[in-house]
Amino acid sequence: MAEVEISQLHKTYPGGGRPATRDVSLTVADGEFMVLLGPSGCGKTTLLRMIAGLELPDRGSVRIGGRDVTYRAPRERNLSMVFQSYAVFPHKKVADNIGFGLAMRKADRAVIQDKIAWAAGLLQLEDYLDRYPSQLSGGQRQRVAVARAIVMEPDVLLMDEPLSNLDALLRLQFRAELKKLLTDLGTTCVYVTHDQVEALSLGERVAVMKDGEIVQCGPPMEVYDSPASEFIGGFIGSPPMNFLDATLRRDGGEAVIEVAGQRSAAPGSWAAFAEGPVRIGVRAETITAHRAERSGALRAVTEVAEPLGSTTLVTAVLGEQRIKVQVPPDFPVGAGDDLWLDLRADRLSCYERDTGRVLVSDR
Ligand SMILES: Nc1ncnc2c1ncn2[C@@H]1O[C@H](COP(=O)(O)OP(=O)(O)OP(=O)(O)O)[C@@H](O)[C@H]1O
Ligand SMILES: [Mg+2]
Repeated sequence: MAEVEISQLHKTYPGGGRPATRDVSLTVADGEFMVLLGPSGCGKTTLLRMIAGLELPDRGSVRIGGRDVTYRAPRERNLSMVFQSYAVFPHKKVADNIGFGLAMRKADRAVIQDKIAWAAGLLQLEDYLDRYPSQLSGGQRQRVAVARAIVMEPDVLLMDEPLSNLDALLRLQFRAELKKLLTDLGTTCVYVTHDQVEALSLGERVAVMKDGEIVQCGPPMEVYDSPASEFIGGFIGSPPMNFLDATLRRDGGEAVIEVAGQRSAAPGSWAAFAEGPVRIGVRAETITAHRAERSGALRAVTEVAEPLGSTTLVTAVLGEQRIKVQVPPDFPVGAGDDLWLDLRADRLSCYERDTGRVLVSDR
């Protein structure tokens, strides 16, 4: 096992125009599960391939376990990679697929058999060892790919959207299995996905990428609760975070926000910010809705209520802005109903109107 340290990795493909990654730095701790998350084309695969040695950077460095491997061949890095397409050999049985890398390394036959049995046990493939990949389901095939990666006992496991070819139910099941397996093994893991739910559920930390850069990196709930920009808050979470045009004011020593001509309390620390136009970020589930007037709550009108089973999602109109609010499934509300929304001050984030960047105070 090993720490992965990438420093200032920059890559432009020949004829590619814009850089695929821009001076990206990131340290993945020994045994950590790091997820790279971002929209299509933001540079996730490029970054992973540079860690793997399948792509060379224009500049910057990759260190694995303290050793500079930037210009070392993939096989000198002791890592394994699992791809989106189940890259298993169709003409080899499951057992031979799993043992392939070890056979190439000319490992002892008995050792190979032991390792195959071990990995097949972990991934519940014992009953399929004599089958060909064409005789397996998609989920089983992807388990073979993971088994083949882990028998190599790599220092680092790299995975590029390994679940994206599975249907929704299999994905859910395999996600939990993968999390348990990798936690048990304690292998350093870099996992690429553009699925924010997968990122939140799997990662010990999530690095959010945009246009070739890491724009935020932290534990999932930190990224979810306190996104560093509007882009991140809009990308992570379903529904995405609400963003409202508001004006920040000081009333006595207290910070307040004005939205659609109404006032609501702001966190005390916001008194340090300049008064004026801002954007307020608030998650649907942190708002408390009431059907009767409440002091300090903002009056809105229900546009639509969508029952989702465990909760109901209400879209309400606040002045000229829309806001999504999560209410209990038995909450009596329908289109046209008045609502009073309590935006809990301690759950608000404040963003610069022009740049969408979060404002932070030292208090
Ligand atoms: N071989 C290549 N030649 C030229 N440009 C490339 C090549 N591979 C990727 N790119 C470009 O580099 C940028 C980053 O691509 P990359 O594959 O790393 O994105 P990604 O985040 O993995 O996207 P996705 O979620 O769609 O897989 C994109 O603009 C892409 O068009
Ligand atoms: Mg990709």
